[in-house]
Amino acid sequence: MTPPSASVAPAPPAATAHADPAAAPATSPPGPEPQSAIDREIAALHTAAAHARTAGGPVPAHPGRDFAPYRSTRLRHPVQPLATIEALRDPEAVELAGPVFGGTDVTALDADLTRQHAGEPLGERITVTGRVRDRAGRPVRGQLVEIWQANAAGRYAHRSDRHPAPLDPNFTGVGRCLTDDAGRYTFTTVRPGAYPWRNHHNAWRPAHIHFSLFGTAFTQRLVTQMYFPGDPLFPYDPILASCTDPRARARLVCAYDPELARAEWSLGYRWDIVLDGPAVTWTEEDR
Ligand SMILES: [Fe+2]
Repeated sequence: MTPPSASVAPAPPAATAHADPAAAPATSPPGPEPQSAIDREIAALHTAAAHARTAGGPVPAHPGRDFAPYRSTRLRHPVQPLATIEALRDPEAVELAGPVFGGTDVTALDADLTRQHAGEPLGERITVTGRVRDRAGRPVRGQLVEIWQANAAGRYAHRSDRHPAPLDPNFTGVGRCLTDDAGRYTFTTVRPGAYPWRNHHNAWRPAHIHFSLFGTAFTQRLVTQMYFPGDPLFPYDPILASCTDPRARARLVCAYDPELARAEWSLGYRWDIVLDGPAVTWTEEDR
C-alpha cells in the first residue's frame, strides 16, 4: 500500500467498546458559551482560510493541531517536540512492532455490528461500503479498517459516555474488516444518532462513524470520521469545521446509494477513502 502521509495520535482500536474522544467532556460541566459565539469563531477561521487559499497559499489537507472553537484540541496533542527513538533511525525496527493480522484473524461477523449479540440492535439498519485508494486511485488491499460509533439513540457503550440516552444491549458499536482486492470494505450496522457534548452550551455532534485504517505499522495509523448527507447539524459542529477547506469537508460525507439498499431490509451508503494526494480524506492528524 501507499503509506499514509503521517502518523496520528492513538485512537481506540475496535477490539473493545470505545467512546468518541469528543464525548469524553460529557462528564464535565457544559461550556457557558452559546452556539452563536462558536459560530462567529468558526466563520472567522474559515474566512481566513479562504483568503489564504485565494492568495495561493497552501491548502492544508488536515486540520491543525489547535482549532479554537473545538475547545479541547489544545489538550489533544503533544506540546513538546517528539522524542527521537532508535526505531526512527532503523525503520525496519518499526515494522517488527507493527500490526500483525491476516484473513484468519478477521471474520465476516466482525464486519456485521448487528449480529454481535443475541438480539438485533434498534435503529435503522444500513450498509456502509467504499474503497480505500491511494493518490493514484490504486486500491489499497488487505487494509485493516476499524469503525466505532454511537448507537441509534446517540449513546456509546462506554463508561465515559454519560449522555442519558438508552444503551442498547444488542449493540456494542465496534467492527472491523480487511479490504478486498479492489480495496473495498463493507460494514452492516445501524445509523448512529446525534449526541450532545460539552464543548459549548447545547452542542450536538452530527451523526457520524469513526474510522481507523492501519498501514503496515502502527505509526501509519489514520483516524477519521464519516458523516451522513443532509445533516442539519453540519454548520454548528466545530469538529467538522476544523477541516477548513469546504471541499475536504464534503469528502467526509457519504452518499446514499440505492444500489446498496436491500429491499425490505436496509439502506446503503457509499464512502471512499483516499489516503493521500489532492483528494485526501481528512484525518485526525497530529492529534
Ligand atoms: Fe463520535
